[in-house]
Amino acid sequence: MAVKKVTAFVGSARKGHTYQAVRSFCDRLEAAGDVRTEIVSLSDYRIETCRGCKACFTRGEDRCPLADDRDALIALMLASDGVVFASPNYSFQVSGLMKCFLDRLGYVFHRPCFHGKTFTSIVVQGVHGGGKIVKYLDFVGMGLGFTVVKGTFSTAFDPMTAKEERKRDATLSKQAEKYLRQLACPAGRVPGLFELMIFRYARTSMSIELDDSNRDYRYYRDRGWFDSAYYYPTKLGFAKRMAGGLFDSLFAGMSKARAS
Ligand SMILES: Cc1cc2nc3c(=O)[nH]c(=O)nc-3n(C[C@H](O)[C@H](O)[C@H](O)COP(=O)(O)O)c2cc1C
Repeated sequence: MAVKKVTAFVGSARKGHTYQAVRSFCDRLEAAGDVRTEIVSLSDYRIETCRGCKACFTRGEDRCPLADDRDALIALMLASDGVVFASPNYSFQVSGLMKCFLDRLGYVFHRPCFHGKTFTSIVVQGVHGGGKIVKYLDFVGMGLGFTVVKGTFSTAFDPMTAKEERKRDATLSKQAEKYLRQLACPAGRVPGLFELMIFRYARTSMSIELDDSNRDYRYYRDRGWFDSAYYYPTKLGFAKRMAGGLFDSLFAGMSKARAS
């Protein structure tokens, strides 16, 4: 296998428990021999707060009025075979730093571009709530186009106990094994029903409600997504082909009703 590049983005402003968890995960990936990892602390980058103008959605990401490091961070992801989003639990959600970063990626949910790349999430909580944050980050990964390996969370308050550390490392070991397996087969996997539904919803509503003055519309049109079964070539079984047809009709009806 050619050497694979994995970049982990850490949403804690300090080199604390989240960084350590990511370090432990990356060490396990590198122990496999043909993986090179890089840990990126989001706090080392300038990430502005989205102003909500939606220029990125309609006119294109190059029309964003903010001048920060968004594109440098996206370039790091595009140059990677795998990506990790890691965050501490702050007030029962990802950290503000991580959330600002995700908001800056908002247009990518409209125009996913990370297909064929592997994703997972790592969360560290003090007491409670990490599981929901993992689910949130994994959902974000799917929305951005990644193939998601289920994320994990661990518990660490200061100081982290030896028992907590052992438990964290055992969890991260299993996560790393699954991640490596996915990393080794980057061909897009057959989508689940929910992923298929999201694709059909997006493309059907765009084709009916938008036109080529809109950046999302042009992105879908240029990739042939208005006519394809999914974002990338894939073999849908009979049931999914039927479901896809139903989704198309259902969402077309909804879009036409909205437009009338
Ligand atoms: C501002 C702030 C808010 C936090 N909120 C929560 C919380 O809602 N639930 C929780 O379990 N832990 C919470 N914690 C604890 C952290 O998630 C925990 O200590 C974590 O290990 C910190 O990661 P770090 O060492 O990478 O900064 C909070 C910590 C801080 C600083």
